[in-house]
Amino acid sequence: MQLTTITVSVALAAFLPSAFGHGQVHNFITAKKTYAAADAYAAVDPNSPIRKLNTYGPAADFTNINITCGEGGNTPVAPLAEVAAGETVTFDWGSWTSSHSGPVMTYIAKCPNGCANFKGDTGNVWVKIDQDQFNPTRTGFEWGENIIRMKGNKYSVQIPDLEPGEYLLRHEILGLHVAGTLMGAQFYPNCVQIKLTGTGKKSLPAGIPLPGSYDPRDTGILVQLWQITAASPNYTAPGGAVILPGGTGDWGVEQFGGGAIGSKYPGPVVGAPVASPPPAKPPVTSAPTPSAPSTASPTVAKPPTSAPAPTPTGASVQKYGQCGGQGYTGPTACVVGSTCQAQNDYYSQCV
Ligand SMILES: *[C@@H]1O[C@H](CO)[C@@H](O)[C@H](O)[C@H]1NC(C)=O
Ligand SMILES: *[C@@H]1O[C@H](CO)[C@@H](O)[C@H](O)[C@H]1NC(C)=O
Repeated sequence: MQLTTITVSVALAAFLPSAFGHGQVHNFITAKKTYAAADAYAAVDPNSPIRKLNTYGPAADFTNINITCGEGGNTPVAPLAEVAAGETVTFDWGSWTSSHSGPVMTYIAKCPNGCANFKGDTGNVWVKIDQDQFNPTRTGFEWGENIIRMKGNKYSVQIPDLEPGEYLLRHEILGLHVAGTLMGAQFYPNCVQIKLTGTGKKSLPAGIPLPGSYDPRDTGILVQLWQITAASPNYTAPGGAVILPGGTGDWGVEQFGGGAIGSKYPGPVVGAPVASPPPAKPPVTSAPTPSAPSTASPTVAKPPTSAPAPTPTGASVQKYGQCGGQGYTGPTACVVGSTCQAQNDYYSQCV
C-alpha cells in the first residue's frame, strides 16, 4: 500500500477497515502514450480515460453494479485512450504489492453510442479476451496474479482485431485468499475507455453480463485457494472461456477450434482433434502413438518467441497437459472430456 496523497481523512479511513490498501490500475500503457489514472483517494482527473475508483479495495458485493467497473468506477468519463486493433496494451498496477493469488481476466465491450454514454452494467456486453488462471508448471508463480507481481506489477493484453470504434476495456484481478467463504472472493475490476483505430473488420459476439455472471457459488469463486496445487490444479475462472482471441485471424474459426491461431487461444473443442484439418499430405513420419501422453508433458512457460504457430497433430494431450502457447509445437487436441484453454500467451492447458 502506498498512498500518494494525504487527502484521506480519518473519517474516510473509518469506512475502509480492511479493504484499504490493495490497489488499482495506475497507468494504461499503449504504443503511443501512457495514460495515468486518478488515484482512488484523489479527485477525478478530467484527462484520464480510466474510470476513477473510490477505493483500493475489491468490489465488495460482486453481484451488483459495483462489479462492472469497480466501486465508484461506473461513472463514464470523456477522454479515450487511442489503441490500434491488434496492439498489445499494458495495465500497470503500480504499487500493487499484496499477495492476492487468483486469476487475471480482461474483457471488452462495445460502447454503442460512445463510452461517455455507456456504463456497461446491463446486457451480454462483456467479451473475455484474455485470462491467466492457474498454471501448475510455473512453480512459485502459478496464478495470473503472481505474474503481475513478478513482472513489476504489469500485465499485457493484445487487443483483438475489431472494427474501429469506442470500447470499454475491463481488466481485473480476482483474489482468492478468502474465497473459501461465501462472498469472500475479491474482484478488483478497472475500466479504461478506448478509441480503437485501424482496419479491423470483426464485430464483437455476444458476451456475458456483469453484474449477472459472477455467481457466489461458482466453483471459480467459492473455492479454497490452498486446495489448488500443482498436484491438483483443477481451477476454472468465472466468466467463461476466452471467446474472442487477439491478433489476426478469424475469431469465428478459432472459437470453434480451427486455424493456426487456435493453438494460441483454443476454442471450446472437447475431445476431438481441432476441427477438420485442411487437406494435407499423409504423414511421412511414423504414425503418432496416441497412447504416449508423455509427449505432452508441460514445459515451463517460455519467453516470447516469434515461432510459427504449431500445426495440430493427431495425438491427444492428457488432462492438465500443455496443448498450446507461443513456441509450443506439440499436439493441440485434448483427450475426451477435457478442453484446451489458454492460461496466457505462452501456455494453454487441457482442463
Ligand atoms: C457500490 O459501492 C459504493 C461504495 O463504493 C456503495 O456506496 C454503493 O452502495 C454500492 N452500490 C450498491 C448497489 O451496492
Ligand atoms: C474440476 O472442477 C470442476 C468444477 O470446477 C468439476 O466439475 C470437476 O469434476 C473437477 N474435475 C476434477 C478432475 O476434479
